[in-house]
Amino acid sequence: MCGIVGYVGARPALSIVLDGLRRLEYRGYDSAGVAVIARRSADAASLLTEKHAGKLANLEKALGERAADGIEAGATGIGHTRWATHGGPTDRNAHPHVSADGRVAVIHNGIIENFAKLRAELESTGTEFASDTDTECAAHLLAAELASVTADGGTGPEALAEAMRRVCRRLEGAFTLLAVDTLTPDAVVGARRNSPLVVGRGEGEYFMASDVSAFIEHTRSAIELGQDQVVLITPGGVAITDFGGTPATGQDYHVDWDAAAAEKGGYDYFMLKEIDEQPRAVAETLLGRLNDAGQIVLDEVRLTDQDLRDVDKIFIVACGTAYHAGLVTKYAIEHWTRIPCEVELASEFRYRDPVLDRSTLVVAISQSGETMDTLMALRHAKEQKARVLAVCNTNGSTIPRESDAVLYTHGGPEIAVASTKAFLTQLTACYLVGLHLAQVRGVMFADEVAAVVERLQRTPDQLTALLAEMGPVRQLANDLRDASTVLFIGRHVGYPVALEGALKLKELAYMHAEGFAAGELKHGSIALIDQGTPVVCVVPSPVGRGVLHDKVVSNIQEVRARGARTIVIAEEGDEAVAAYADHLIRVPRTPTLLAPLMTTVPLQVLACGIAAARGNDVDQPRNLAKSVTVE
Ligand code: F6R
Repeated sequence: MCGIVGYVGARPALSIVLDGLRRLEYRGYDSAGVAVIARRSADAASLLTEKHAGKLANLEKALGERAADGIEAGATGIGHTRWATHGGPTDRNAHPHVSADGRVAVIHNGIIENFAKLRAELESTGTEFASDTDTECAAHLLAAELASVTADGGTGPEALAEAMRRVCRRLEGAFTLLAVDTLTPDAVVGARRNSPLVVGRGEGEYFMASDVSAFIEHTRSAIELGQDQVVLITPGGVAITDFGGTPATGQDYHVDWDAAAAEKGGYDYFMLKEIDEQPRAVAETLLGRLNDAGQIVLDEVRLTDQDLRDVDKIFIVACGTAYHAGLVTKYAIEHWTRIPCEVELASEFRYRDPVLDRSTLVVAISQSGETMDTLMALRHAKEQKARVLAVCNTNGSTIPRESDAVLYTHGGPEIAVASTKAFLTQLTACYLVGLHLAQVRGVMFADEVAAVVERLQRTPDQLTALLAEMGPVRQLANDLRDASTVLFIGRHVGYPVALEGALKLKELAYMHAEGFAAGELKHGSIALIDQGTPVVCVVPSPVGRGVLHDKVVSNIQEVRARGARTIVIAEEGDEAVAAYADHLIRVPRTPTLLAPLMTTVPLQVLACGIAAARGNDVDQPRNLAKSVTVE
């Protein structure tokens, strides 16, 4: 939700900032803007800004048309790509926002909750606002604080940092702020509370960004910041303090993501690339978690075996696709461990006063590690003394940092707004959590765990084989481009898969889609089915749980009898369903609980194909952002 980037060094800032924005655009694409400090002479610096509604391409076009006014040469700059909260997605509301005296430019990610009060106060002293945003308050406040720090004798970068600290102490809500000051041309100041910000350390140059993908082309050396910190970067170094001015240190880490992982690599869309990366992503999530005896070893889970034995209830909290991963996990955890497990939408969790205590384990699933709803659910759980385990893809992000333990999914950067490989790696990691719990608590024998593990280890190859067979699904996507509604049905773990298939279609194709528990349809929703309504049916394996399989086959017959066009996802060798399928999509045979690792894939390909056939922006669907850092 909003991408921000800052640079200070010896190289031209504009191209570095624009490049960073290209990599962060997935975080929001309602508008984009830059501010660069250009020096016309040794002592005269000026602030040059450009900002436009719409995608980054609009900004790039405007910059291309701009006469050489020094913006290309300035070596200090900030840039922003926006997901609108306060104020519509217009040019005037695009960031950066400049103070009335033209001295400072500010960009912001988050929401300043007390902005109305601050705005009224500023307006009462004659400040004129040029936008409807909450951010603009921060720009005017920073200019006022800079004037007062300077009057108190403060100069240079330290004065800029002190002014930013004073501003932060007045702000409520969630924010990451970056600012540049014409009178301190070789510095960028940043601040964070509840929103992400990382620092990149180069040779005589420093970067700040919402996430490391903005600067991994230039440096792999990163610094993770803590909560409520102000950070100042100059070509000579980085200085971190808390909001009160007490020096603080960040946590150094090395970014091992490959820069190429954040490129399209010949694919039309990031989403297609990320779908194809799933075999590797699942394999890497399994890597190093299984010992030679086939037992689960989760070194990152810093909860003792005794802690895990004491657990008497599990809550999974997550949003969207991650919530669907949680729904699948519930089936696996309850089956393997016999511990009651509830799955909650993170945005609802804390408001209904859930019963939690020391022996409750809360599993927070999040690709980005920054989702505000999930973060707030986690904090609520910790206040109630529950233990929190994060399942996360983003190293150093807030959710794992605030959890008692973390299990990282090793999916690599997910750029497409719609989650694909994150879902499969979340499932993989959660299966490991379930098996680990069962093993530690002695509910499953070693050979039972080893048997599941062996099947899990086969899934990357099975996924590769499945992905090679997606041609007919792409063809079907083309046929369905004009459908007005698509329904998805499934039972058991097939039900969350149906929900996920519908979510993918809604967010990518802007089409009405709904997922149902197959047995629930007859209680009302079956009335939606008309002649030719496409119904995607996720069929469980006929092996082992034959009853479940037969029930879904009956449900397929029910919808077909009412005119539905059935698109059936069924295991290889399941001949019983063939007669009821208008389109049959085969997936490799897997144990029932692991089946979502296979059955979800054709639904991702289908949604991506329909969206592309309708001419939609597959990687950046309308109204969305990748990382949702507001509640
Ligand atoms: C849908 C999608 C979203 C996210 C949700 C949670 O394709 O990507 O529903 O799953 O916003 O995001 P994270 O996992 O980053 O917490």
